[in-house]
Formats: sequence, structure tokens, C-alpha cells
Amino acid sequence: MSNQFTHAIVRRPGENFAQGLTTSRLGTPSYELMIKQHNAYIETLRALGLDVIVLDPQPDYPDAYFVEDTAVVTPDAAIITNPGAETRRGEEDTIEPVLARYRNTVRISAPGTLDGGDVLMVGTHFFVGISERTNKGGAEQLGNILEEFGNTWTAIPVEAGLHLKSSVTYVGNNTLLLIKEFEDHHEFRRCDRIVLDKAERYAGNTLLINDCLITPKGFPGTRKRLETLGLAIIELDVSEVRKMDGGLTCLSLRF
Ligand code: GLY
Repeated sequence: MSNQFTHAIVRRPGENFAQGLTTSRLGTPSYELMIKQHNAYIETLRALGLDVIVLDPQPDYPDAYFVEDTAVVTPDAAIITNPGAETRRGEEDTIEPVLARYRNTVRISAPGTLDGGDVLMVGTHFFVGISERTNKGGAEQLGNILEEFGNTWTAIPVEAGLHLKSSVTYVGNNTLLLIKEFEDHHEFRRCDRIVLDKAERYAGNTLLINDCLITPKGFPGTRKRLETLGLAIIELDVSEVRKMDGGLTCLSLRF
């Protein structure tokens, strides 16, 4: 079953995390608050039964705590990405040996680029965003690997938000939580859809782990609609992560 996990990998944000890439205009993030929010995230994953592997910051890579972008982990393999942002290339090298303890690893190679944030797994089907970070070549390399293991995939152009999962996530019960722009996308019609209110778009990055939805704090309309799914819900404050264009899914690799 999709989204049943036993392990997660996270990386602590470094003191220089605010030097990472961002387009947000939400102000300067606080290191102290970021660490507090990151610790709460780790504790939540542990409370959900995951064995959480916590890596040290990578001072040369201020975005490296967004570990999700460095790999796509399926039940069959760990596909190590070639991140789309030049300043992030190299982050994946320290993730590969950690994942190699649990899965065979395969690499995406240049000129293909791929960020894990663009990959949405729904059972054995994978939606792969073509975005500023993931190009067609990277998506096709990933798709070929996924197909070798009996999975299917489709490419989705990402015209809003940084990554595909900035705007679409899987929330269980064959349901996607998504922004209005994706509501009528033919590829998403295979699922039921909850369309986010414009003012609550950020909540589109909700994380399903072991029948529990972790959703960003401060989006009451979305929370109410998620409640109809009958799953447990935990709200986490990720204000500082948001200031760096990140969200709940970017902070971990789950498998
Ligand atoms: N700050 C996250 C990213 O731009 O990759």
C-alpha cells in the first residue's frame, strides 16, 4: 500500500540555511525557530513509528536539508537524482551511501535533471513534474527505471510553484489535494480531487505517512476538508521552511 513507511532520512538545517535558494517574500527566517520546527517534524515522524535517520548539515549546501530532492525511493530501488539547481548539485552524493544500506541505487545522469520534489508516488503510478528543476530527459530516465520494476508514470508540466508537490499531494483514499490549475488535468482524473482555496494553496503540500496526514498549520479550510477523509491529522508550523520555498514533503525521504 502506498505511503506506509518504516524509515525516514532528514538532515538538520545548517546555521547558513537562509543562504539557500528562495523566491518567497515572507521575510528573513530565524535559525532558532527553524530548528524548533525541524525538531518537531522529526518527533512527529518518530511518533508515527518511523526510524528517523538524522544527518548533519552540509555547510557547502545551504538547501541540503531539503533531502527529498536528492532521491526517489520506491520499494524496489533508490534513484539518486541530478538536482536541477546548480548550487544544489552534489547534495545527492552524501545521500547515496545512506540509501545504499536499504536499496539498490541507480543514478540520474546529466544532461537529465530531476528533483525528488517533482515526483508524486500514488501506489505504483508516478506523476513526474517537468519544472524549472526537472527536465524531460531526467523524467524519462526516471520513468525508464520505474517501468523496469513494473511501475507506470506520466509527465506533468509544472506551471505554478517550485515543484510538482508544491501544488499536488496524495492524501489517501485515491484522493489528490491540488491547486485549481491542476483540477481538470486529464492525468489527475484517475483520482478524486480536493481543490484548494486560493488563499490556502500552500497547504497543497500535505504529507501522508502511515494513515496520518501532516499538514501545515494555519489553513483551517483545508483542514476541514481533509477531515472528511477520516485519517488522523497533525498540523505542524513550518513558517520558516516556507520562507525558503520548502514544505513538509521536502524535509524527508520516506521509505
Ligand atoms: N530552497 C529550496 C530550493 O530552492 O530548492
